[in-house]
Amino acid sequence: MSQLSLALCAVLCTQLIGAKYTPDWASLDSRPLPEWYDEAKFGIFIHWGVFSVPAFGSEWFWWEWRGALKPSYVEYMTKNYPPGFTYEEFAPDFHAEFFEPDQWAAIFEASGAKYVVLTTKHHEGFTNWGSPNSWNWNSVDVGPHRDLVGDLGVAIRKKSIHYGLYNSLYEWFHPLYLSDKQSGFKTQVYVENKAMPELLNLVTRYKPDLIWSDGDWEAPDTYWNSTHFLAWLYNESPVKDVVVTNDRWGAGCYCKHGGYYNCADKYTPGQLPKHKWEKCQSVDKYSWGYRKNMVLSDLMDLPSIIKDMVYTVALGGNYLLNVGPTADGMIPPVFEERLRSIGDWMKINGEAIYATKPWKVQAENATVPVWYTSKGSTVYAIFTTNPKQYTFQLSTPVTSDKTVVTLLGNPEPLKWAPLHLSGLVVLVPDLPDSPAQAWTLKLDGVN
Ligand SMILES: *[C@@H]1O[C@H](CO)[C@@H](O)[C@H](O)[C@H]1NC(C)=O
Ligand SMILES: *[C@@H]1O[C@H](CO)[C@@H](O)[C@H](O)[C@H]1NC(C)=O
Repeated sequence: MSQLSLALCAVLCTQLIGAKYTPDWASLDSRPLPEWYDEAKFGIFIHWGVFSVPAFGSEWFWWEWRGALKPSYVEYMTKNYPPGFTYEEFAPDFHAEFFEPDQWAAIFEASGAKYVVLTTKHHEGFTNWGSPNSWNWNSVDVGPHRDLVGDLGVAIRKKSIHYGLYNSLYEWFHPLYLSDKQSGFKTQVYVENKAMPELLNLVTRYKPDLIWSDGDWEAPDTYWNSTHFLAWLYNESPVKDVVVTNDRWGAGCYCKHGGYYNCADKYTPGQLPKHKWEKCQSVDKYSWGYRKNMVLSDLMDLPSIIKDMVYTVALGGNYLLNVGPTADGMIPPVFEERLRSIGDWMKINGEAIYATKPWKVQAENATVPVWYTSKGSTVYAIFTTNPKQYTFQLSTPVTSDKTVVTLLGNPEPLKWAPLHLSGLVVLVPDLPDSPAQAWTLKLDGVN
């Protein structure tokens, strides 16, 4: 073909097959992130699987026990289970007998979350739906005898909450994966026969709004066929216009390629990142999955959760907060209490969170530290320390005679006076009681 016909084909062929994106990072990374995601700001992460049965240590139980031979895990098994007991034998005890998807959805709605991400398959390989590629190691054949992914999705969507699916690319002990690994990832038998068909099945069957990819780090994206999958996802899949993805698509991809960036777990950048990002965090500081040996002091309290979310949103991130349900299908009441309390705070302060943008300055040490967010010409200054005094000074906002200052939750506008050059001093009333220990000053008409 001549240069000209090649160039023509690039335009026409693209239009003919409707393919906008080519399977390379330069093209895939140029896709704009669907807007709903940035506006959502707050989501719930759910780690649920066979690991919820031993519910000891963390969701990495199988690996810690059999892979790393970590003494506390080995000892737990020797003490409590008969010799020769295998991890697979936990699956029949994954009953989920109290799992009421509508009840979960009601809790998530009350928390103010706008999206929910469920582990459909963690590194153990057990699928929470009847995957045709996961014979006898899925929630329909064994354990709950139920399509957990589908049932939760129906309930979540009734509440108009976006539904995201977490998927682990690797499986610690899958024989095909281990043999590909043995070959230095020169063969792709596991990807071709397990990982990819399963991912395609998830997308076509459940039409997720978000794919939270994980377990990619041992092999390059070329092994996982990630760019081909994403090109299909963005060009042709039933969710091509709404789906959001993260950045875990092969060794070296995170913080560099994909949709939004998770970077590391619990990523905490020091300043405003250039690219949309998400901080995932767990209420239980030591585990994502439910564990029976969790004590109250292991948990984030409400003020520390709100503070973490405020910081994340001020720096342009989304906050994905994790809870681990039990094997019988309950969200432990202590997690439920945290989630409902977040929602109570959001009812008053949510306008400073949802659909906001980072402001020109993200934080300042005022009378007490504040974090800024903005929406159009409105600026929000959120503070997580009670100043315990009646005047509150902000040095960055430039006021005008149109400036109006209010405290969210308090209908009366507040008295204020400009400071020399920029900034203002606000007369704050007694602060309303806030179990979250966080309040918001709303500033209209400032620069
Ligand atoms: C990778 O994706 C391409 C395009 O969809 C496909 O032809 C190929 O078979 C895939 N390879 C594997 C190993 O899945
Ligand atoms: C505020 O003060 C704290 C403690 O000194 C410091 O760590 C932080 O960087 C300061 N923040 C700003 C925005 O100046």
